[in-house]
Amino acid sequence: MNKRQLGKNGPEITEIGLGAWAIGGSWAWGWGEQEDTASLDTIAAALDAGINWIDTAPVYGLGHSEEVVGKAVKGRRHNVIVATKCGLRWDERRRITNNLHPASIRKECEDSLRRLQTDYIDLYQIHWPHKNIPVEESWGQMTRLVEEGKVRYIGVSNFNIDLLERCQAIQHIDSLQPPYSLVERKLETELLPWCRENETGIIVYSPLQSGLLTGKFSRDFLEDLPEDDWRKKNGNATFREPLFSAVLDFVDGLRPIAAGYEKTVAQLAIAWTLMQAGVSSAIVGARKTEQIKQNAGGADWQISDKDMEKIEQRYQETVGVVSQR
Ligand SMILES: NC(=O)c1ccc[n+]([C@@H]2O[C@H](COP(=O)([O-])OP(=O)(O)OC[C@H]3O[C@@H](n4cnc5c(N)ncnc54)[C@H](OP(=O)(O)O)[C@@H]3O)[C@@H](O)[C@H]2O)c1
Repeated sequence: MNKRQLGKNGPEITEIGLGAWAIGGSWAWGWGEQEDTASLDTIAAALDAGINWIDTAPVYGLGHSEEVVGKAVKGRRHNVIVATKCGLRWDERRRITNNLHPASIRKECEDSLRRLQTDYIDLYQIHWPHKNIPVEESWGQMTRLVEEGKVRYIGVSNFNIDLLERCQAIQHIDSLQPPYSLVERKLETELLPWCRENETGIIVYSPLQSGLLTGKFSRDFLEDLPEDDWRKKNGNATFREPLFSAVLDFVDGLRPIAAGYEKTVAQLAIAWTLMQAGVSSAIVGARKTEQIKQNAGGADWQISDKDMEKIEQRYQETVGVVSQR
């Protein structure tokens, strides 16, 4: 699979990275039941398909996703780029809080190293910003973890321009992890130009809009999801009306365009995110081997200008109309 350099000095990462949120299993923001055997098979299939990096976080399954990733990469650790995060902690009652105190970041890093069964993290990211703790204190701690060799590269996720500027003034930000998909385009206005100018790599999350852009969704499919699947319980606006129906309508228009390349809608949606200059890689989630095998086909090809225009037109006629209301 094609590789792109992550920002100015980062590692060469494949156009698709495997997202390990859903393999965390059951927790407040879980995706319903998930067997570890299926998760381990999925990670193995991702690596066999040429994917060279995995994105996880301590909070995914309250430690469980990291443990599964650690088990999966044991024996081939040096061939896999492992990215994880810090900033979301949980207590004995499984309540999640945001904490970016320097001491907390250090503790989280040690815990992640243990769960991942490794002595270094390739890419360590601040998961979400904190309202009260000055970002300089948190970012300063991230830089010390690099100096100590516990972490190779550092990045942030869900940050705005002000926070990016403040971190960049202390030490170069290797990567930004924002949401980006055919129906989630906020990245394009300010963050993308900022990252291009500052040579910060961009690894986009939820390129399939958490499954909505795979072509398998319908009203019945959403309603039949398990009660503990976050998309049913507290899915974002795209899982609620009026956007939900508009996205389904949009997806219907994508089917013939994808078919023209002998690709699936999911592969088209992934390839679309990779068309944007400045995007280093798309983090695609998968819970089954067949999903990741299919998703790997989202890399290594391009959508023609003409079809990019067709996609845009269809977007404006469906999702665009609803978003502007
Ligand atoms: N930094 C952050 O705040 C943040 C936030 C969100 C995500 N992320 C990262 O980004 C990764 C990807 O995001 P995501 O998991 O939200 O969404 P995604 O990649 O947009 O969608 C992944 C989900 O879609 C379904 N799916 C995947 N491939 C499919 C296929 N070929 N056919 C049918 N269904 C398919 C699977 O769920 P079902 O089978 O259950 O439908 C899978 O879990 C996460 O794992 C995480 O690493 C980070």
